[in-house]
Amino acid sequence: MIRILTGSLAALTLALGLAVTNANAASEGGHGVHIDRQTWTFGGFTGQYDPAQLQRGFQIYKEVCSACHGLKRVRFRNLFEPGGPEFPEDAVKALAHDWPNKIVDGPDDEGKMFEREPKAFDPILGPFKNDKEARSAQNGALPPDLSLVVKARNVEYTGSWWAHPFSMLRDIATGYQEGGADYLYALLIGYAEAPADVKLAEGMHYNAVFPGHQIAMPQPLAKDNFITYQDGKGSLEQNAADVSAFLAWAADPHLNSRKGIGWLVMLYLVVTTGLLYAGKRLLWSKIPH
Ligand code: HEC
Repeated sequence: MIRILTGSLAALTLALGLAVTNANAASEGGHGVHIDRQTWTFGGFTGQYDPAQLQRGFQIYKEVCSACHGLKRVRFRNLFEPGGPEFPEDAVKALAHDWPNKIVDGPDDEGKMFEREPKAFDPILGPFKNDKEARSAQNGALPPDLSLVVKARNVEYTGSWWAHPFSMLRDIATGYQEGGADYLYALLIGYAEAPADVKLAEGMHYNAVFPGHQIAMPQPLAKDNFITYQDGKGSLEQNAADVSAFLAWAADPHLNSRKGIGWLVMLYLVVTTGLLYAGKRLLWSKIPH
């Protein structure tokens, strides 16, 4: 008995030791940077996108990010469909027609491929024809397609190891799934002067939250260089939040209806449970038991 006890104690100590060293390793090299959580309208179990915010976010994408990044899994028509930015249909059709990056179509009757203006059903393409062209224009770095980037990124847990399970339970209880948007927001406002002990490689920029702190993307938005909205307002933080919300929608366009259906299903289950229980009482009330 004592032997088993000491054995398990040793195993536990080893496991804890490993967990601690792992946590230390993770905090080096730029990973494990603390990222603040933002309040998103689409957060939690009931949150929904705010169409006005998505419209502002699209404006940022169009005026800044689309110079380097594509959005190929989003079609122009998605911009006027319910649950998204919900722009007027005519405005989106005009936007597609004037989009600078054309669609390669074909082959035509002579067997040649040709370029044409995008239509509502076409994807929103970036400026580069392929990854090699993108890399050669960007000093060897690839600006990723932004359609799914919010789903592809997350925030790393940075608290103490023993509090990790509680933090996970809290995230489950509150339905937290906005890590990607939190990261993107922090990335966009995370540019700064490199600290004296950091030596940046040629053509790289310092960013507080990017893993390794050296990013090839030049600062797209800044405190003194942001986009003003139609109402004449704007700021770095608001631009960053709006474009992050827009890209969260791009990566998860059915969130609004999914959450709506989820609540309906819960209601249905509650009502069905009540009915079944009442039925059971009724049935058994006639039978002595
Ligand atoms: C001048 C070109 C350029 C512009 C403009 C630009 N980016 Fe980038 N972006 C890049 C490049 C290049 C990379 C790859 C960086 C790397 O791997 O070091 C990148 C990477 C990214 C990443 C991935 C970061 C990661 O964690 O891997 C995101 C997200 C991103 N950009 C979002 C944006 C958003 C949002 C905008 C508009 C506000 C924008 N970018 C504007 C060139 C650009």
